[in-house]
Amino acid sequence: MEESGKILLELCFGTTCFVMGASKLQEIEQYIPPQYKNKVEVKAHTCLDLCKNATYMKAPFVKLDGEIISEATVEKIIQAIERKING
Ligand code: FES
Repeated sequence: MEESGKILLELCFGTTCFVMGASKLQEIEQYIPPQYKNKVEVKAHTCLDLCKNATYMKAPFVKLDGEIISEATVEKIIQAIERKING
């Protein structure tokens, strides 16, 4: 959790992630359900340093409170946010 008590969602828009689908995550904030919006802080990175040794996981990568989500999609991220908030 962020100091603000928010969930930290870190997106990667580095080359690897971008071409592997992160371009579709640019609008993620629009898809976060309204009741969760003020609970999530979104940050963009140019590389999360996960693409380099990702032999078993695939880009695009996203981190949610430090937890890595590989092959991230809008649906996957929203589900993970819901799980975090609802326990
Ligand atoms: S480009 Fe996304 S982790 Fe490196």
